[in-house]
Amino acid sequence: MAKDEKRHWDRLAGKYNTEIFDVFNSDRNEVLTQYFDRYANQAHTAVDFGCGNGKAFPYLVPRFGEVWGLDISQNLLDVAALRGYDRVRLAQADLVKPARKLPRGEFAFCCNVAILPGIDVNQAIIRNIRRSVKPGGAAVFVIPSFESAAFAMWRLVEWYGREGVGPAEISRDELALFGGSKTDIVQGLLRIDGVTTKHYSEPEIRYLFTQAGFKQVNTDRIEYNWTSEFENPPRWMKDPYPWDWLVECRV
Ligand SMILES: C[S@@+](CC[C@H](N)C(=O)[O-])C[C@H]1O[C@@H](n2cnc3c(N)ncnc32)[C@H](O)[C@@H]1O
Repeated sequence: MAKDEKRHWDRLAGKYNTEIFDVFNSDRNEVLTQYFDRYANQAHTAVDFGCGNGKAFPYLVPRFGEVWGLDISQNLLDVAALRGYDRVRLAQADLVKPARKLPRGEFAFCCNVAILPGIDVNQAIIRNIRRSVKPGGAAVFVIPSFESAAFAMWRLVEWYGREGVGPAEISRDELALFGGSKTDIVQGLLRIDGVTTKHYSEPEIRYLFTQAGFKQVNTDRIEYNWTSEFENPPRWMKDPYPWDWLVECRV
């Protein structure tokens, strides 16, 4: 599992910026920045769990005294290192494994990493991150929203309807996000460009993050334009916009 995951992300490293959705640049209301500002502290250490090629570093480095970037993919860490931040320490780590060696900090950030096709592995990641946050510290996760995915498909049906096409006539390929088995769908395992990706509902977040040992689990929305879901969305398609969940929690 971990080997496959590492190979997958190592292969993607060179084309990461074109293949992987950019949360930071797409965040319509700059919600992430507000949360980084809330926890900024030069005396604190921030750890970016599953840092990829380091897109969060320009936000974390000015706000924290020390920053760690951890990822399973050495190729992505090599690209992250090219950003040239002296105060960022990088290390390879499999976040699914027991957390003994993970660096600890007052602030944890984890953006679209606990999205694997399996409740246990995601729960292991969330629990490991919880253990590496120092008492009194906080964590901010970004994870895909099941409600948003369902709403996007609802809008697609609406869009077709406005053009005179009924639900039964819509090609199944258009609904491929929900193309998995019924048991996958009810577990939030949806297919983004063919890749099975865990999506979370709000009550599930409250349940799972509390079970992982976090306190004060709050959710917020990181909203994106409709271009994040559809090529050439119609001009009338405005708010409500699609979103990822931002999960803010305390230790
Ligand atoms: C969708 S990318 C997000 C990267 C980055 N957080 C961002 O927002 O740009 C998922 C990242 O999680 C990393 N990852 C996946 N499984 C992992 C694991 N078991 N341990 C550590 N990192 C993992 C991947 O290598 C990849 O960099």
